[in-house]
Amino acid sequence: MDIFKFIKKVQENRVIQESLEFPTNFTWGTATAAFQIEGHPDEYREKLSDWAEWLDEPEKVKSPNGAGLAVKHYEKLEEDLTLINDLGAAAYRFSFNWAALHRGPDDFHEETLAFYERLLGGLKVKPFATLVHFVLPNWLAKEGGWENPNTACEFNNFVKFLLENFGEKIQHWITFNEPNIFLGFGYESGIWPPGKTNDLNGYFKAYQGMLTAHELAYKSIKEFNPSHQVGFSQNMYYFQSYQESQEGKLGDVNKPKIKPETTTNTSHISPYKRRVDLDLVPAMIRDQLHNYSFIESCLDMGSLDFLGVNYYTRFIYKFSTQAKDPANPDLDSLLWGQLQNTPESQHNSLGWEIYPEGLYKVLSSEKFKKLLGDKPIFITENGYSHIESSPEDKDLEDSYRIAFIKSHLESIHRAIQENVNIQGYFYWSLIDNFEWALGMEPRFGLIHVDHETYNRTPKASYHYYSDICKTNQVI
Ligand code: BGC
Repeated sequence: MDIFKFIKKVQENRVIQESLEFPTNFTWGTATAAFQIEGHPDEYREKLSDWAEWLDEPEKVKSPNGAGLAVKHYEKLEEDLTLINDLGAAAYRFSFNWAALHRGPDDFHEETLAFYERLLGGLKVKPFATLVHFVLPNWLAKEGGWENPNTACEFNNFVKFLLENFGEKIQHWITFNEPNIFLGFGYESGIWPPGKTNDLNGYFKAYQGMLTAHELAYKSIKEFNPSHQVGFSQNMYYFQSYQESQEGKLGDVNKPKIKPETTTNTSHISPYKRRVDLDLVPAMIRDQLHNYSFIESCLDMGSLDFLGVNYYTRFIYKFSTQAKDPANPDLDSLLWGQLQNTPESQHNSLGWEIYPEGLYKVLSSEKFKKLLGDKPIFITENGYSHIESSPEDKDLEDSYRIAFIKSHLESIHRAIQENVNIQGYFYWSLIDNFEWALGMEPRFGLIHVDHETYNRTPKASYHYYSDICKTNQVI
């Protein structure tokens, strides 16, 4: 099905369903991350971060990469603040630029601090602060990054510095954005720094380092003010085995299927027979590794006040002998297999399947509900990307993004009706930005940025989302 049929489907649904009311106090917001928008004047020039250095290798980042300027948020802060405040959302999720703020042991940068004072001073909405959104200060990356236990200690010094300066202004702290994506791209596929391929040893060392860092930060923040709320944001896919997706079943990898025997003459065999689905076990392993392990570790340590869920797509697992890494075929195919699509799949411009049902499935699965219990959940990211393929193809009348938002909010609303404690939604992203290895072309924003002039223009979806934020209803 193409995207326009999808939009039509959503519109038809709109006629049937009047409007969806969200709970009072539901927090509406948008999200960004420092490296993706700022273009900090020193960062790229002085190679302050691992990503600033990574940009210099043209085969690693799709052009144009904007020479590290992203969308010049650093320069255009006041204009962006007006757009954030005028949207009508109650919250804004941003990330601190650790690399620009913390330039060596005990070396904190006053000018960058002043930038964040202006940001937090000018915000009229509640800040949700992310402390690490993938990027590392280069002086720490060069010493092994998260694999080196010293990084967690320096991170804790950074957290204390932020608490001294902003501890009175920020109540919600997100220690890490998507540790699973960082580890997967940094240590399995190697497409992001530190660029290691199928390095399981490094993967688990870094995992441990990040977990320690989360724990230290949790304690420091709670010591500063016990009522502050600390969590992290996890990228969650809806994992499904290929066979389940082909059968059109709403397969749940947490519940292996048992199918009644259909033959009539069955007296000699068990009435139930396990369906042979070779893709189910790897999908379950992936679900555990990708979605759940870090959450469980934080819960075991008693250091999670809320969970941030970032949801983009479904992952249909199919075992593949066509491994991405020919040097290591077994590991690669076992861990990832191949992302498949079904004939009905609709996609965004990056080929990611649009599958709102998957968000509902993740949030309402028995495993998720049992683990999280009544803990608050915030959807800290969810968004649609468009690539402008010609000068006429401007991403301004973005009905596809509107349909995307509406359909995902319906899934969230459905989960809330089933008593999942979802307290907020942050659209990714406030503004078009730098999409990591994919460069500047994919646009996720509610606000359009002209890459030549850096002019900002709110898209149709900005106004649509603004209405939702102001009325607490989805129409
Ligand atoms: C990341 C964002 C990214 C978005 C779209 C999320 O995994 O947190 O930084 O831009 O996905 O790819």
